[in-house]
Parts: sequence; C-alpha cells; structure tokens
Amino acid sequence: VVSLKGKDFLTLIDISTEDIYDLLALAEELKQKQLAGQSHAPLAGKTLAMIFEKPSTRTRVSFEVGMTQLGGSALYLNSSDLQLGRGETIADTARVLSQYVDAIMIRTFAHSKLEELAAYATIPVINGLTDDDHPCQALADLLTIYEVKKTLKGLKLAYVGDGNNVANALMIAAAKVGMDCVIACPSGYEPKEKYIDAAEQIGKQTGAAVAVTHDPVEAVANADVIYTDVWTSMGQEQESEQRLTVFQPFQVNGELVKHAKQDYLFLHCLPAHRGEEVTAEVIDGPNSFVFQQAGNRLHAQKAVLLSLLL
Ligand code: CP
Ligand code: NVA
Repeated sequence: VVSLKGKDFLTLIDISTEDIYDLLALAEELKQKQLAGQSHAPLAGKTLAMIFEKPSTRTRVSFEVGMTQLGGSALYLNSSDLQLGRGETIADTARVLSQYVDAIMIRTFAHSKLEELAAYATIPVINGLTDDDHPCQALADLLTIYEVKKTLKGLKLAYVGDGNNVANALMIAAAKVGMDCVIACPSGYEPKEKYIDAAEQIGKQTGAAVAVTHDPVEAVANADVIYTDVWTSMGQEQESEQRLTVFQPFQVNGELVKHAKQDYLFLHCLPAHRGEEVTAEVIDGPNSFVFQQAGNRLHAQKAVLLSLLL
C-alpha cells in the first residue's frame, strides 16, 4: 500500500505515477468500505487543521467528513479569525500548529504561502487549492475518469476555458498517468509555464502528449473527457466583466461537444455557472459525471490522509 508518511501533498508534480495509482486504488477501496457501511477508524486521535483564506463547499466538507469517517477530527479555521489575519506570520503559525495537530490543510492565494507553511511545519501540509494548483481535485478527477472508462492511459482530455489552478493540476495529473491533455484557452490565459514544462517532461516518460491551443474545436476533437471550470476564479472578481467577454468563444455547449467522442465524459470541479462556461444542456445532460466527481473528493482525500498520517 501507498505510504507518503510525513510528506506534504502540495502538487501532483511531487507524487510518482505509481503512488498516484496506489492512491486511486486505496480511494476505491475506501469508497467501497463506506458504501458497505463498514466502519474503519485508523486515524483515531488524529486532528487535521484546515485553514481557509477563500470560501469552499466541497473541500471543506469532504475533508472534515473524511477525517470523521476515519476516526479522527478536523478543525475549520477561517484565516480572518486566526491571528494570521492580523499579521502573525505563516512561519509562526506553522510552528505553533505543528505542536497541536497532525496535519494542516490550507486553501490560500499565492502558492508560495503554501510552500512557506510546508517549510516551517513539522507535520504534513496538504494543498486545498492555491492560485496555481489543486491536486486533491485532480486526484478525484482521475478517480472519476477511471471509474467510468476503466482506464486512464491513452485517453484524451480536453480542458476548455481558463488556464487556471485546476487546468495546471489536470495537466500534471493527465501527464502522470499517460493521458493526452489539450488545453484550449484565450490568448493570454494560458496555464503557467512551470506547469506546461513539468507536464511535458512527465509526458516524455509516460507517453502523454500535452498541448495548448486557442481553438476549442481542435481541443475537443475526438476527446474522451471534456473539462471546464469557472471563468473567474476566487480572487479575480474585479476582472469578471472582461472575462465574460473574452471567454465567450470557449463555452462548453451542445455545439462544441459534438466534436468529442460520442461517449465523452463531461467534468467540472464545481461550483459551476450555467450559461457561462457550460450550458445546462451539457452539465445536466447524460454525459455529465460532475456529481460523482464531487463525491469522489471525499474518497480521494481519505486516501491522501491515510497515506500521509499512517
Ligand atoms: N471544487 C472545489 O474545490 O470546490 P470548493 O471550492 O467548494 O471546495
Ligand atoms: N478555479 C476555481 C476553482 C474553485 C474550486 C477558483 O480558484 O476559484
């Protein structure tokens, strides 16, 4: 079984292909256990601190419930209620929390803040989303694709929309498992260079092709998976009007999905804005697996928690 004991979970760049497959297998096993109503409390006595600098529905609830189901507990810490919100440093926060809890999950803005927390904490740190990355989401996405398609390697994933945190994480996840990944975005909204380069390097080992285009039809052509995310991420609210115009040609709608394979899977990390990045016809249609995907956050994260803490 997979052991990442004492490590951090900051980005899938750091997790090997083998460990990703082992985490997916463990997640599936945990899911079956839960569906069968078997109780399993290996994290009894362990506590996860969860720091949120941005709102959350899925990440917050799935981490908290996941800890409870595994016999441990979780603390929701809104950064504005912590001394962090009054200028205490991230380094001091890390050193203090390391004395009380067994792991820290943080959702924050700059990825460097997550890395600083991890550098000063003596316990595992988990990325619950930064401006650059969302590895817990991408792991749940792989689990969902695997459940539906029974394979990952050799599939083609098309991400249409903003080259944001979710796109960065997906490129890495796809590359790690040998899945081709094409990102279609407006010019100026590409994924981060660091992530494109890393995905290309990983793809050389696994056989995955990574590409960025400005043509959504080209990206979606023959795709097995179509993925999109909001046009305006948390923290970009002041750009939302401009983004509504720039991203219009990248809407995932009935016309666009005709170019994909007939049995394509539609995914979205949620929350979604129907009529913006995706039409109701697609997200509420028969090819959409977005709620299975959201549900899988719980199982994927329980696997991560066990691998870091046991
Ligand atoms: N997909 C996701 O991370 O959702 P939340 O913002 O609700 O946590
Ligand atoms: N890209 C979105 C993802 C939310 C889960 C954001 O950062 O707001």
